[in-house]
Amino acid sequence: MSSYLVTGGAGFIGSNLTELLLTDPDNTITIVDDLSMGLRTNIPDSSRITFYEHSITDHAFMSQLLMEGQFDYIVLLAAVASVADSVERPYATHQVNQEANLNIIETLRTQKIAFKKLFFASSAAVYGDSPELPKKENMAVKPLTQYAVDKFATERAVLNYGRLYDMPMVCTRFFNVYGPKQNPKSPYSGVLSIMMDALEADKPFTFFGDGEQTRDFIYVGDVVHAIRGLLETPSARDDVFNVANGKQTSLNQVAKELEKLTSKKLHATHKAPRLGDIRDSYAETAKLDQFDFMTHTPLAEGLAKYVASV
Ligand code: UD1
Repeated sequence: MSSYLVTGGAGFIGSNLTELLLTDPDNTITIVDDLSMGLRTNIPDSSRITFYEHSITDHAFMSQLLMEGQFDYIVLLAAVASVADSVERPYATHQVNQEANLNIIETLRTQKIAFKKLFFASSAAVYGDSPELPKKENMAVKPLTQYAVDKFATERAVLNYGRLYDMPMVCTRFFNVYGPKQNPKSPYSGVLSIMMDALEADKPFTFFGDGEQTRDFIYVGDVVHAIRGLLETPSARDDVFNVANGKQTSLNQVAKELEKLTSKKLHATHKAPRLGDIRDSYAETAKLDQFDFMTHTPLAEGLAKYVASV
């Protein structure tokens, strides 16, 4: 029997992870989510889930929860998830993406709280726009926005705590995750969810730039298997892993594929590229592929599953 704390558990990746963890009947899951992006309806109906509608920026609340919770696994997914949002709200982003997480690991350290593994989700955004592709974990980073700065700083803090204070820690750098339960309702939502929503509702879609910017899109099912695998593999600690499909795809290519799958035409307009946006991104995935829990759903297959889910 394992007990999990998942911050951001009502969000896109967190709720998909919660569903996966529930498949083991011995697991219990505590979710902390302020529903700023997550949705209550994303949380499965189960007596093995305890949900706190709360912000992780309430340091006293989080410290108390950690002291009383006796969690085996701590999964830090709560975040201001949008790069563009962080450009609009740099300090609020910092409070969530860095300060709140630092409070969590500092509480674990000072209160000498025992746990089996802590996971922190960092981001491909830390690599910035250096021309070198694919992005490898040992490359120099170039964080271009507050989002990227905070993700990198927290990733380093988590790994340094692991090394300095012998705490079992692991981090990932997510590339562009897509799939069921991604909330399309904010202008800061992931691009594929906005595109899908536009197709479904016959609404216009805006490309920021020419649509030739590239991303490494990974299906959320692969991501949550990677998180669980990293938590459960004792040798995967004090380290950071790219989580991606290892393929470079332009927004225009994805739009074509979605048009084919939905038999609909995207009503596209174009605006200037977003401030702080990265032009090209894709990952070297060899480091995580050494583990047999890592799966790579091909983009066409993942998009088909996504279309079927909406
Ligand atoms: C995304 C994730 C971020 C993650 C990072 C890792 C989201 C919201 N952001 O950031 O959490 O850390 O990947 O690589 O999931 N675009 C449009 N039209 C739109 C929306 C976006 O053209 O309506 C463009 C953007 O300008 C950008 C691309 O699509 O060029 C991707 O944007 P977005 O989905 O926001 O993701 P990232 O900024 O790559």
